[in-house]
Amino acid sequence: MVKIAPSILSADFVNLERDIRAVSCADYLHVDVMDGAFVPNITIGIPVVKSIRKCTDMFLDVHLMVEKPARYVEAFAKAGADLLSVHLEADHPARIAEALDIMGDCGVKKAVALRPITKAEAVLPYIEQLDLVLVMTVEPRFGGPAFMEGQLETVRQVRAIIERYNPACELEVDGGVAPDTAPLVVEAGANVLVAGSAVYGAADIPGAIAALRGALR
Ligand code: DX5
Ligand code: ZN
Repeated sequence: MVKIAPSILSADFVNLERDIRAVSCADYLHVDVMDGAFVPNITIGIPVVKSIRKCTDMFLDVHLMVEKPARYVEAFAKAGADLLSVHLEADHPARIAEALDIMGDCGVKKAVALRPITKAEAVLPYIEQLDLVLVMTVEPRFGGPAFMEGQLETVRQVRAIIERYNPACELEVDGGVAPDTAPLVVEAGANVLVAGSAVYGAADIPGAIAALRGALR
């Protein structure tokens, strides 16, 4: 089954609890952490994840768009993340491996994320230990930019690597996912779809989640 992961980046932060409850029919809650250095935007951090953890039982999928993420893995795990993804571009390979080791020690699920510039093969050193690979289909920055269709090839290549080395690993696509693009990413091999503006930009939020699921039938 394909999973839907609404991104709270497009929620109303004044009414975050209300907006989290509105997506309780989804599968994961996607939390975009941006540090103003790895990406030119600053979003939310550890105290907010801690507060979110208190108000929902949803699976917290925390996407770390931060430089040198190994520094923060333990803190986000303790704050209540269920899964953490670190960008392969955010540090040297040895420090990415260290970030994954810390995730293992903390008992959270392990993921790596790829910006559009990064080739699928970059996941190879880590693939056997991963629970999820996140492929960006926009340049990470703000919610809402246009879907990059060229990234479908990267999704296909990562799916092939997953099938070969670790078939249980999930493949998440993040950026520009909407009812028109959702079938394309699923056809390319994704099984977790992040959606920010397509969910929170809708007047009927549960209806928007249903529309995404409906687009896949
Ligand atoms: C992009 C973030 C995404 C973003 C997706 O910088 O990592 O999670 O919120 O938003 P939409 O679905 O609006 O492209
Ligand atoms: Zn994200």
